[in-house]
Amino acid sequence: EAPGALPRDLEGRRVVVSAGGTAEPLDPVRTLGNRSSGRQGYALARVAAQRGADVTLVAGTTADLDPPAAVDVVRVRTTEEMRTAVLDAGKGAEVVVMAAAVADFRPADVAGFKIKKGPGEPEAIPLTRNPDILAELVAEQVPGRLVLGFAAETGDADHDVLSFGRAKLERKGCDYLVVNAVGGPTGHNAFEGADNEGWLLGADGSSVALPMGSKAALAARVWDTVADRLA
Ligand code: CTP
Ligand code: CA
Repeated sequence: EAPGALPRDLEGRRVVVSAGGTAEPLDPVRTLGNRSSGRQGYALARVAAQRGADVTLVAGTTADLDPPAAVDVVRVRTTEEMRTAVLDAGKGAEVVVMAAAVADFRPADVAGFKIKKGPGEPEAIPLTRNPDILAELVAEQVPGRLVLGFAAETGDADHDVLSFGRAKLERKGCDYLVVNAVGGPTGHNAFEGADNEGWLLGADGSSVALPMGSKAALAARVWDTVADRLA
């Protein structure tokens, strides 16, 4: 789709999108992180800007991606940096989308010097829980602001992806949860692939199927629902 063909249904809307992973230092040269590429968050930011939104993209660790045109990009590394940037940009926003893969834990202590092999070498890395940025956004209860979360789920022997998604939406208390179905029979990996599929679940009980397709196509469907809701 050429940008000219896109609706301008987010004109002037202030939107914050987080993307990529967070990386937690262990010592001056090592980090604990994840393999999120940031592609889905970048697609969400790009499509929102193309549809007229005023977008801040808070980007953690990502693949080597081109910054979306006409988007304010704030680069962060740690969860604490992402938290500060998202909460700050989120103050004036009408929509905040947490597409980032936030590290759930960080090393409890950061060594001041490079950890060496030999006597005194660590046997394990004690971890501590990171703040939950999405939960903090929800707890702020900003009137009229929509908060969207993302979850990658696989299902198990007794639960399908959708029921895990519903449960997580309720637990998280956000307005919408984008549930990505990952690790299916094809071994499809939403983290690194170009394509995505899943559902957009609403706290109002709504659910919209997000068919397998490009991350831009998934972003467009998410923004369709959000734009309707804001209208
Ligand atoms: N999230 C966040 N801060 C964290 C962890 C997660 O803001 N410290 C956000 C993610 O950006 C995502 C949503 O919460 O939008 C769901 O993340 P997920 O990892 O699926 O949820 P968790 O509550 O961390 O559950 P799990 O134990 O399954 O990882
Ligand atoms: Ca998590």
